[in-house]
Amino acid sequence: MAVLVTGGAGFIGSHTCVELLNAGFEVVVADNLYNASEESLKRVEEITGRSLRFYKTDILDREGLDKIFKSESIDCVIHFAGYKAVGESVQKPLEYYYNNITGTLVLTDVMRQNGCKSIVFSSSATVYGDPKVIPITEECETGGVTNPYGRTKYMIEQILKDYYVADKEWNIILLRYFNPIGAHESGRIGEDPKGIPNNLMPYVSQVAIGKLKCLGVFGDDYDTPDGTGVRDYIHVVDLADGHVKALAKISEMKEKGADGVMVYNLGTGKGVSVLELVHAFEKVIGRPLPYEIKPRRAGDIAVCYADPSKAKRELGWEAKRGIEEMCRDSWNWQSKNPNGYN
Ligand SMILES: NC(=O)c1ccc[n+]([C@@H]2O[C@H](COP(=O)([O-])OP(=O)(O)OC[C@H]3O[C@@H](n4cnc5c(N)ncnc54)[C@H](O)[C@@H]3O)[C@@H](O)[C@H]2O)c1
Repeated sequence: MAVLVTGGAGFIGSHTCVELLNAGFEVVVADNLYNASEESLKRVEEITGRSLRFYKTDILDREGLDKIFKSESIDCVIHFAGYKAVGESVQKPLEYYYNNITGTLVLTDVMRQNGCKSIVFSSSATVYGDPKVIPITEECETGGVTNPYGRTKYMIEQILKDYYVADKEWNIILLRYFNPIGAHESGRIGEDPKGIPNNLMPYVSQVAIGKLKCLGVFGDDYDTPDGTGVRDYIHVVDLADGHVKALAKISEMKEKGADGVMVYNLGTGKGVSVLELVHAFEKVIGRPLPYEIKPRRAGDIAVCYADPSKAKRELGWEAKRGIEEMCRDSWNWQSKNPNGYN
């Protein structure tokens, strides 16, 4: 059974390839390397001692994808490929809708033509918008999204659900990730953002390594214990493991002919504030980090964390690693690879 991992050379994709290979799956990766390096896949092979097959292919390239399906026997697709920067999506909505949505339409059409109707999709907690209830369960309302990136995730969820309404042969799992950070404990693979990082953890670690001068903390007047925003940080290896569990669920769904669309939150269920994360990181590196309180950022919400109990109940998955391990592993990756994969 081969799994096609789109976007498999990226941050979450590469960690998922490690867990899939360790679990004995055959892995085929399609990535156009827009935001990744092939080096990550070499290191995946080095960590696991197993090989995968890589196709430098764009998911918008119908013929390229079709060739993969014709040459490999793909049972299921884990679909990570997409653009992911919230701020950039506001500046480049057309590019985001085209790459993420058209890319998914092309991919799923090629899947269908080749008789593969099982997909695990990388969705995001962003589909919940500003949540009315905390912790967030899968039943909470979705759709109140404030940026094009988040809307692509919401729309793709709807598109995939419609496929199932029309054709019960589809098996679809939508995984809503909270905030993935950390790195593989070997320090060989990790998050390698291009330019100035958008997310907190890579920013923190680049301040720690001296590439950036000072961390900006956006808002200290939220209604939270220390006034800074609270998020559900999840170790990327735990998140990757969630995908292995999702594949097991897909096999079960196929066997039992069970409901073909499942949605799961992948988070720890624990809220951690920006300053708590900064202090946990300071403990790991043994020195204080320069930070500066700045005004709130438009669109940021105060508190967001998951109720991950459905994933525990139905997938047998739960996050095992705490915030200290997340900081330790992020720092291990950053300090061993100050320039990422370059
Ligand atoms: N990192 C997060 O905080 C987060 C949170 C929620 C959801 N997600 C989603 O998870 C997925 C993976 O995120 P990540 O953090 O690993 O990002 P990433 O940028 O590291 O990985 C995405 C990969 O997709 C590839 N890609 C992009 N467009 C492509 C195309 N048209 N054809 C082929 N490959 C293409 C990129 O080269 C990259 O390797 C994304 O869909 C993202 O939106 C990420």
